[in-house]
Amino acid sequence: MKKIIAINASPRRNQNTAQLVRAAAEGAGAEVIDLYTLEKYSGCISCFGCKTENHYGECICNDGLRPVLEKIRESDGLIIGTPNYLGEASAAFRALYERLIFQYITYDLDEPNANKSKIPVLFIMTSNAGDNAYDKGGFYHDLVSNYRDTLTRFIGPTKVLIAADTVQVKDYSKFHWTMFDGEAKQRRHDAVFGGLLEEAKAIGREMA
Ligand SMILES: Cc1cc2nc3c(=O)[nH]c(=O)nc-3n(C[C@H](O)[C@H](O)[C@H](O)COP(=O)(O)O)c2cc1C
Repeated sequence: MKKIIAINASPRRNQNTAQLVRAAAEGAGAEVIDLYTLEKYSGCISCFGCKTENHYGECICNDGLRPVLEKIRESDGLIIGTPNYLGEASAAFRALYERLIFQYITYDLDEPNANKSKIPVLFIMTSNAGDNAYDKGGFYHDLVSNYRDTLTRFIGPTKVLIAADTVQVKDYSKFHWTMFDGEAKQRRHDAVFGGLLEEAKAIGREMA
């Protein structure tokens, strides 16, 4: 049986990103890790331990992310979801991403990638912005393309699932948020989110 790991890089453990990650995990029979519940960790600390003979291609930074990186290394598939924070992935995602990718970059012209066993990846992003932000020419198109390309190159063939225009809070009337129509957001959620959960689950099932 294939071993798949699923990672929620949203601080919220039950909202949009987490629900999609958990749906994909359910399809794949995967263990879910919530990055914001781990012991203290950081992004890459530039120690270059992963470029030494003894630990070639292996991040040696010993903190809360170490076991996660080990689990990814032992997995046959990776599901990872992040909210869009300020036009980027979340800080927790970035910390993991730096360490996950940089350990495999060799600086060797003949062999630039130390990862010899590629696994399929599902990259999920959720955001306030609508779907058109992710279309060609949209302001998040390149962001997601870059993640897809880099993950594909260093980890394995990457699928992308976007949940746009998400419901951020249950009751919009509690906040001075004149930019959003909470009811319209809820209607959209009711119309599309179930389908996205199904899609996530199906991709997870395919991976397994
Ligand atoms: C700190 C912060 C920054 C955000 N920045 C953006 C942004 O730049 N663009 C966007 O479309 N949504 C942004 N959002 C909205 C979230 O991406 C969106 O609500 C997402 O679905 C939240 O995921 P969650 O429900 O899993 O926590 C931001 C939310 C927060 C809390």
